[in-house]
Amino acid sequence: MIFITYLQEKVIIVTGSGRGIGYAIAKYCLDEGATVVIVDSVMERVDKALSRLQDNSGRILGIHETVATREGAKRIISETINRFGKIDALINNAAKTEDNLLLNMEESEFNNVIDTNLKGPFFCTKEVLPSMVQQGNGRIINMIAASGLAGNPGQTNYAASKGGLLSMTLTWSKELRNKNIQVNAVIPTAWTEMSEEIPEKVLLKVMGEEKLDELKSRTPNQVAPLIGYLLSDEGVGVTGQCFGIAGKQLSVWDYAKPAEVFSTEEDRWEFEEIAQLVEGNKEKFRVKPVSPFL
Ligand SMILES: NC(=O)c1ccc[n+]([C@@H]2O[C@H](COP(=O)([O-])OP(=O)(O)OC[C@H]3O[C@@H](n4cnc5c(N)ncnc54)[C@H](O)[C@@H]3O)[C@@H](O)[C@H]2O)c1
Repeated sequence: MIFITYLQEKVIIVTGSGRGIGYAIAKYCLDEGATVVIVDSVMERVDKALSRLQDNSGRILGIHETVATREGAKRIISETINRFGKIDALINNAAKTEDNLLLNMEESEFNNVIDTNLKGPFFCTKEVLPSMVQQGNGRIINMIAASGLAGNPGQTNYAASKGGLLSMTLTWSKELRNKNIQVNAVIPTAWTEMSEEIPEKVLLKVMGEEKLDELKSRTPNQVAPLIGYLLSDEGVGVTGQCFGIAGKQLSVWDYAKPAEVFSTEEDRWEFEEIAQLVEGNKEKFRVKPVSPFL
């Protein structure tokens, strides 16, 4: 019996897919008929993912490599093309955290996170682009995080990397639209080993017990079908968007327009007028008492 699955014939690279959300995406795409490339900087994670997938169809390639260098990205792309002849989609999912309050954050902690989370997608996308331009189509998905839009104490490096990745998503979608290459961002929420690295007492303080229990119930498998859709033929024309997927909730994020606009009768806004405006609209300007967070 032949099963027709909606990602058949597509070659998809998922970076950071040795575990967590990346692994769930790779498994989902494989189950939907795609050929998948598992990339991870930790060898044991690549090996574990391959043995968990137990696929004999020849539709999987495991690459132990980092995305954080140009050489690493070059190798990931060239090995995939050598093996499968083309790349239809790149999921920039690999990421790391090295949380610290700004006061204590070392330059090395900043650089390590930026190298993987921001420069990694830059290197991998730059390397994959020539083949996508030549074949006349392609899909790029960048996994970002709400802290990149909203900020998060202790995550100067991570928030900067994810905010930067959203900016690159929007820019690339505009640059590449006329080359039939679609670029989108996804904010996933799922309980993974990355989530477990955040001390429970911090999570409890930030979100409270009920929300933490809800977070723990969300799985990487709930994230994967949205990625499948964005890679599918049905997803044609969807580009430059930021989706959120958290358990049963799917959202589309609005980020590029002002929340409120005020006009002055004068030539310019003067200090007193601005002070009065903010004083009279504290809620709109989100004025809150300033207090230490931790
Ligand atoms: N889990 C969540 O709720 C959540 C929330 C927001 C955003 N995200 C984003 O989703 C993506 C997946 O997160 P996750 O929770 O599955 O994380 P995870 O830590 O479980 O998995 C990330 C994988 O990336 C690999 N990796 C790290 N650095 C790498 C590098 N330089 N080169 C190649 N591989 C590397 C790791 O070895 C790991 O296997 C990340 O981009 C993360 O920032 C996750």
